Amino acid sequence: MTQRPPILVTRAVFPEVVASLREHFDVETNDADDIWTPAQLIERLQGKVGALTSGAERIDAALLAACPELRIVSNLAVGYNNFDVPAMTAAGVLGTNAPDVLTETTADFGFALLLATARRLTESEHFLRAGQWKKWGLDLFAGADVHGATLGILGMGRIGQAIAKRAAHGFDMPVIYHNRSRLDSATEAKLDARYVSKNELLQQADHLMLVLPYSAESHHAIAAAEIALMKPTATLINLARGGIVDETALVAALRDRRIAAAGLDVFEGEPKINPALLTVPNVVLTPHIASATLKTRRAMAQLAADNLMAYLTKGAALTPVNAGLIKPR
Ligand code: GLV
Repeated sequence: MTQRPPILVTRAVFPEVVASLREHFDVETNDADDIWTPAQLIERLQGKVGALTSGAERIDAALLAACPELRIVSNLAVGYNNFDVPAMTAAGVLGTNAPDVLTETTADFGFALLLATARRLTESEHFLRAGQWKKWGLDLFAGADVHGATLGILGMGRIGQAIAKRAAHGFDMPVIYHNRSRLDSATEAKLDARYVSKNELLQQADHLMLVLPYSAESHHAIAAAEIALMKPTATLINLARGGIVDETALVAALRDRRIAAAGLDVFEGEPKINPALLTVPNVVLTPHIASATLKTRRAMAQLAADNLMAYLTKGAALTPVNAGLIKPR
């Protein structure tokens, strides 16, 4: 029997996805779902031609140099800030991500988090569970309206656009956005979204949603100076990556009510949470679950597996991030 190419799946994934990989590859899995150190990851990658990663494992020049057999790393996430793309390109290693299949699910969650934050859902539930509700009150947990309020979107890719669609057409929200590149006018008209500068976005949004990719350029894109431009009644929702927000500045702003509230699905040092965040009541915190419906997580895992199969059996991946740039190993 001819030997199948060896690959590594770094975290526990759905059995049917592993089974589809086993039709083509010798698959090493991590059924215990352990979190490996970079050294353990390198050790397990020895001899492997492909890896299916979760989006948390750092793929950098040191790892690539230590794993000369590796030809493709397929991320089970749309974000791929864990990839050092120039290093992968220089090493001739293809990177792929898992876009599209999570867009609508993530946009739904953006609204779940926005509504929970603006309407103080978790804060009021904790109050009730703690037996503190003694009487109905006219302003008890009075929050901010979402319908009709101005939604600011920072980062207008696929997920930003799916959020804009819900906002303009479901919640009658004027939508403003800022992005590295402006959308064409037909797309702006279809979405009913208006392009503004970053400062205008910060100043005018009643609710500000962060859905931009994380990079050195977007690190702390929202810090004290940016928060200072926001309305004192505004809410800030982060669905993207924790490092986009300076959490220390955000905690101070939430404490001093310089903005009304925040909803965070992602954190600077996740899964560790800045303890100060846990002490402020006006923040809704969720454990990086924006794309977490079973249907969508299955689709993401299958797309990540399909990328490995397409590249290693046919030479072209479905959703590459550096194709055309690399000279394959
Ligand atoms: C999740 O954060 C993803 O990038 O898919």
